[in-house]
Amino acid sequence: MTDYAKLFRLDGKHALVIGAGSGIGRESALALSAHGAQVTCADRDLAAAESTASTRDLTIAGELGAPDISAYQLDILDDDAIIRAAAELDPVDVLVFTAATNVRKRILDYTNDEFDRVVSLNLRASFQLIRAFGKQMAERGSGSIIGFSSIRGTTVEPGQSVYAATKAGLVQLLRTAAAELGPSGVRANAIAPGVVETPLTAQIKANPAWYDAYAQKGALSRWAQPSELAGAVVYLASDASSFVTGSVLAVDGGWTAVDGRFDPPN
Ligand SMILES: NC(=O)c1ccc[n+]([C@@H]2O[C@H](COP(=O)([O-])OP(=O)(O)OC[C@H]3O[C@@H](n4cnc5c(N)ncnc54)[C@H](O)[C@@H]3O)[C@@H](O)[C@H]2O)c1
Repeated sequence: MTDYAKLFRLDGKHALVIGAGSGIGRESALALSAHGAQVTCADRDLAAAESTASTRDLTIAGELGAPDISAYQLDILDDDAIIRAAAELDPVDVLVFTAATNVRKRILDYTNDEFDRVVSLNLRASFQLIRAFGKQMAERGSGSIIGFSSIRGTTVEPGQSVYAATKAGLVQLLRTAAAELGPSGVRANAIAPGVVETPLTAQIKANPAWYDAYAQKGALSRWAQPSELAGAVVYLASDASSFVTGSVLAVDGGWTAVDGRFDPPN
């Protein structure tokens, strides 16, 4: 019989969170740890990853046993570093990757260097992570891969071209990973956030008209805090989602549900 009280528990699982030094990655790492997972907080910025790991240490009052959470320096633009991480870290049951970048510029103004920078991190590095960790998961016969797409994988506005293309592309990469690795017991899913207050969107928050326009667009009429993405990560990591693969989970406050141009009179 299924013990539903433990449906979301992650005891005995090792979760590697890449981008754990900031924003959604940080909250994902803390939530996975709170649900019992061994968590490796990986980031290009080691001090930020260490800060996440030590935050969790400070939140354990009242819990049984110390959480197994550690920091690891990893630059996912370095192919060899990814392969090294897959070889030297404990086998990974749950891979979460959040690192991404955006250059908000119209297509005619984009430089080739900017295009390469966005595609290299958002798409190429994701491809390398899926390959390195998907391989070991498939060999072990289980695993959950969780990548971060965006509302921009579906809906766009001027200035989102390359970022949007990478976020749509990531969905197709993950769907194909689901198709190829599913027979080996590995699941692959995307989470598509709406607007979330993190360093990635600081440029928008600094402009009140821009910030408010985005707040009003969704059904909930506000931005999300990064902690509001953590539930989706725990769900996709856990057995609560054991039959979920190749999916895109919208956590966007209704952004993609509502057209938003006009509120017609009754
Ligand atoms: N914030 C939003 O409003 C929003 C909306 C939709 C989608 N998303 C997506 O959610 C994900 C997380 O976004 P966020 O806002 O938490 O980002 P963030 O900028 O707050 O955090 C990204 C983290 O990735 C790390 N990182 C950057 N380059 C790296 C590299 N080469 N190797 C390893 N680590 C690296 C950074 O040091 C940072 O800690 C992204 O994929 C983003 O596209 C965010």
